[in-house]
Amino acid sequence: MTERGLQDLVTPVAVSDGAGVRLKRCIATETLDHLDPFFLFDHFGSENADDYVAGFPMHPHRGIETITYMLDGSVSHRDSLGNAGVIGAGDVQWMTAGSGILHEEMPRVGPKRLDGFQIWVNLPAKLKMTRPRYQDVPAGQIPEVARPDGARIRVVAGTVDGVEGAVKEIFAGPTYLDVALPAGRSFEQPVPRGHTALLYVFRGEVTLGGAGPARGSTAVRAPRLAILKDGDVVRVHAGAAPARFLLLSAQPLDEPYARWGPFVMNTREEISQALRELREGTFIKG
Ligand code: CO
Repeated sequence: MTERGLQDLVTPVAVSDGAGVRLKRCIATETLDHLDPFFLFDHFGSENADDYVAGFPMHPHRGIETITYMLDGSVSHRDSLGNAGVIGAGDVQWMTAGSGILHEEMPRVGPKRLDGFQIWVNLPAKLKMTRPRYQDVPAGQIPEVARPDGARIRVVAGTVDGVEGAVKEIFAGPTYLDVALPAGRSFEQPVPRGHTALLYVFRGEVTLGGAGPARGSTAVRAPRLAILKDGDVVRVHAGAAPARFLLLSAQPLDEPYARWGPFVMNTREEISQALRELREGTFIKG
């Protein structure tokens, strides 16, 4: 068993997207375009409504999956499939855009802070034009593993201690865990060899690969994205304070890609076609 050490540490970049939402971006930046198959990683969070109220008005996606996971606050959404609703604290929306979807994502001003994540997972060539699919999983349907040592793991996708996540049958075989570790505790999770694996620490600080600096391990302090080396298992340790992080992994596609805004396809011609179909009103397939 090889432990997955630290390959690189990414500090989020402050960007403005949509109609003027200020967020922290780790993937899809000038220095890190993608980490196959992850094509975007955004952390939005603020107590100030001005940072998010403009939202993401109606826009298209094709060729990817977008995954929105909320910690606090809520986002209203509606889409061209006829889905409409609210993604609230602890909920996940796993949207397979496939051949094309138009949707709107508008954060709601509430008494609490807005806090959440959106990631994009690329689809393989053979599924780029698949029928759009939408999985809306309320917080209560996301299994939570409570370990005797106090660690709590919400299993959005993947398997922890034999507990299978809420979102299944996704091509890239993703793991998506939200892990809360008490001070001084460790967490271990097998991740298939060859899969891209990321750790996003958003509260506190953890060390990777063992029980503290004495063993030559690496500290990852919030907010940072740790890109992990290949191996079989991820080992994380919380120091003097509690920590919370996302662990993401998925199978790389290793295919040519062409990105334009909300589309990720294999060739420039497929991007041009998507834009042409948008103009001509044929973007949404039956
Ligand atoms: Co969108």
